[in-house]
Amino acid sequence: MSWWQDTVCYELYPRAFADWDGDGTGDLAGATARLGHIAELGADAVWITPFYPSPLADGGYDIADYTAVAPDLGTSEDFDRLTARAHDLGLKLIVDLVPNHTSDQHPWFREALAAGPGSTARGRYLFRPGRGLAGELPPNDWQSAFGGPAWTRVADGEWYCHLHAPEQPDLNWREQEVRSAFSDVLRYWLDRGVDGFRVDVAHALFKAEGMPDAGPGQHQDPLRNHLMPYYDQEELHPLYREWRKLLDTHPAPPGAVAPHDRVMVAESAVFDPARLARYIRPDEMHQAFNFAFLEAAWDPAELRRVIDASLSAPGGGAVTWLLSSHDAVRPVTRLGSAMRARAAALLMLALPGSAYLYQGEELGLPQATIPDHRILDPLWERSGHTDRGRDGSRVPLPWSGDLPPYGFTTAKAERTWLPQPDDWAPYTVAAQERDPASTLTLYREALRLRRAHPAYDPTAAPRWYSAPTDPYLAFRRSALTCVVNLGTQPLPLAGLGLTGSPVLASGPFDGGTIPPDTALWLVDDTEPQHNEGDGHGPVH
Ligand code: GLC
Repeated sequence: MSWWQDTVCYELYPRAFADWDGDGTGDLAGATARLGHIAELGADAVWITPFYPSPLADGGYDIADYTAVAPDLGTSEDFDRLTARAHDLGLKLIVDLVPNHTSDQHPWFREALAAGPGSTARGRYLFRPGRGLAGELPPNDWQSAFGGPAWTRVADGEWYCHLHAPEQPDLNWREQEVRSAFSDVLRYWLDRGVDGFRVDVAHALFKAEGMPDAGPGQHQDPLRNHLMPYYDQEELHPLYREWRKLLDTHPAPPGAVAPHDRVMVAESAVFDPARLARYIRPDEMHQAFNFAFLEAAWDPAELRRVIDASLSAPGGGAVTWLLSSHDAVRPVTRLGSAMRARAAALLMLALPGSAYLYQGEELGLPQATIPDHRILDPLWERSGHTDRGRDGSRVPLPWSGDLPPYGFTTAKAERTWLPQPDDWAPYTVAAQERDPASTLTLYREALRLRRAHPAYDPTAAPRWYSAPTDPYLAFRRSALTCVVNLGTQPLPLAGLGLTGSPVLASGPFDGGTIPPDTALWLVDDTEPQHNEGDGHGPVH
């Protein structure tokens, strides 16, 4: 078994994690100084989102230089210190690779604009003539994920494709020079000691030949994503095989994991499990984010269906779970209450496979409301001010103290990268550390118990002790049993047919009854600790 198969990986969004230089924006030195928080939490790995030079049209996912550090976040030496500190603390470090698009400020795109139609420089991107009598209409009907057409016209009349913001022109992955430049990017970060990559929009790099229309309703049904001409194309797979070979063979510097232990995790919005499984074949990516779990409703039948489907999909040895990310609404808000978010955390952390946590999830932060004039997410402008976007989950973390900036920075509160709410004093790390009932204490304890009772076989389905129609979920993996009461009535523990002693509850548990929206863990060390792996519980 490899480390990534049951890793708990903490997503660190650097501008909102910790500020060291006092400019109000989080930076790499701040992250290094606060990495101890992640180690104490009990995570095994850190995935750091883009920290590269960027005009910030999309929170850093618009990259102007793939092998440098953004000046406001630090220097390459700061990155080396972060890597060394992570490794000293026993944490693996994963960086973000954003290959679908560059920034419009990347030297390649500036060159493409200057060089004109038909040039080699334009060939690195997806420039096309428009439709209509004078080429005044976009080349096809593709829509940007952020709203509006996926095309922008330049001064000489050509259009370029961008599946996200216009400041994020899509690359032409059929161009050999693009391919080899990205292999160099992979080598560069491997040489600096990273242990793996999270690959941004890994389903979108190739567009169907001829770029045909996608048809009406293209972004309405994510289950049909794999049928879109700009998603899930066959040519992705030889590319990922090429990268996998590189990862498996490129020499590792001291401190980093051995080549064959590196990980590549796909951010792939392909919801058909059979299609998604194709990204995680043994010679391609190691893992893909399980967005079906992240998006599942607070409903026992739906959660069970998603869990079973995830574990039985081909490539099940690579299963991941996540409740939040920098793109998603915070679970406290999405699921409807802090109680539910805490119960969901125990559910996720009891499942076999790996879990991705997003910074602030361990503090139970709710989604913040950002005042109109401070919104940074391009979704706000692109949606004509109807979608406030994702900034509400990207607010700087509260570390200590009673008022903003809560120890995040030495700068004045009004200068933090995004504004923090005035009522976050109870959410600070310092406040929660002292409180045995806090969400931080719950996460720490859950991760400690998870380590003490590993799944042994992260590919084995849990044994269900609840029926698909029950208002609760109960399952066992190795010595650990998890019960989640998703119903509206208190659930008596006796009579559920479970063995083991209660060790952790996400809410008030009186020893006999599990309240609604509460999860309970039991440990039974007397039974054989290995999952049988048959996926069939003794009851249902
Ligand atoms: C991914 C990132 C998201 C970004 C998009 C475009 O989905 O997680 O934050 O906006 O890619 O790069």
